[in-house]
Amino acid sequence: PRDKGWVVNHLFNYQGFWHTTRQLQGVLASQKLFQAQQTDLFLVTTPKSGTTWLKAMAFAILNRDRYPCNNDHHPLLYSNPHDLVPFLELKLYVDNNVPDFTNFVSPRLFSTHMPYISLPDSIKNSKCKIVYLCRNPRDTLISLWHFTNKLRPKTIGNISLEEAFEKFCKGVSLCGPFWDHVLEYWKQSLEMPERVLFVKYEEIKEEPKVHLNRLAKFLGYPFSVEEEKLGVVDEILNLCSFDSLSNLMVNRMGKLLTGEDNKAFFRKGEVGDSGNYLTPEMIQHLDVITENKFIGYGLEV
Ligand code: A3P
Repeated sequence: PRDKGWVVNHLFNYQGFWHTTRQLQGVLASQKLFQAQQTDLFLVTTPKSGTTWLKAMAFAILNRDRYPCNNDHHPLLYSNPHDLVPFLELKLYVDNNVPDFTNFVSPRLFSTHMPYISLPDSIKNSKCKIVYLCRNPRDTLISLWHFTNKLRPKTIGNISLEEAFEKFCKGVSLCGPFWDHVLEYWKQSLEMPERVLFVKYEEIKEEPKVHLNRLAKFLGYPFSVEEEKLGVVDEILNLCSFDSLSNLMVNRMGKLLTGEDNKAFFRKGEVGDSGNYLTPEMIQHLDVITENKFIGYGLEV
């Protein structure tokens, strides 16, 4: 099945989830060609859940010996996080070739928007770890709506909030249905807590230190007492903060290797901005869907 897309082209449904053509090509190629290593680390999200932020934090955690965060030459100061931590399906596999991974140091750090059902078997069957970042559906939708309108050519015009809302509620959004995507990984995190860490955008915003520590521990790179004393955790949080990343020249001007404007990934970075756009009825409608989808699973977003 296909749907006239949010962006420009149609979205295609594969294994119950909606993809752009480019993304679907990448999913299929990854399924066919990707060979996971036991030490690989995956950052998984639905679009606009805070992927950029998670990539920055994970990159900074893993590379802090090579690149101390108080150093003027830190890669995050000169490259967009999406160029440092590539999407498996959006960059590496779209051309249907086995990409060159020789530049990837171990543990290899990747990201993906793929739903759990579509992950390559070699990932599912390996011991590699997955961090899943979830954001509440209201803010995710508003962020996605803004992002989509930034990417749409002026000649096509904007998608209205009403249309975006209707599609999102029906599950027709990039990598949607949003709720099914979240729930699949939530279930995996309950079944295999040593392999899948489930994190919420709102929780990191509220207690950044607690969650950066949790993330570092799960990834196998816990902070030492010495590092805590030296303020390394704060340095990483500062470097990866919305204010810091969004004000860097590279993120205000440049383009990703995949072509999108770097600045499109930074808008407000707040919790609850959806309240400025959605009517009380829209919010209630979304809340009812969320409740119905998540009932019995112990998941609140
Ligand atoms: P808003 O549109 O609500 O501002 P993704 O990275 O998955 O594409 O998600 C983008 C959303 O994350 C945007 O949300 C963006 O502003 C926000 N974001 C980007 N960098 C962030 C950071 N360092 N801290 C918090 N939020 C961030």
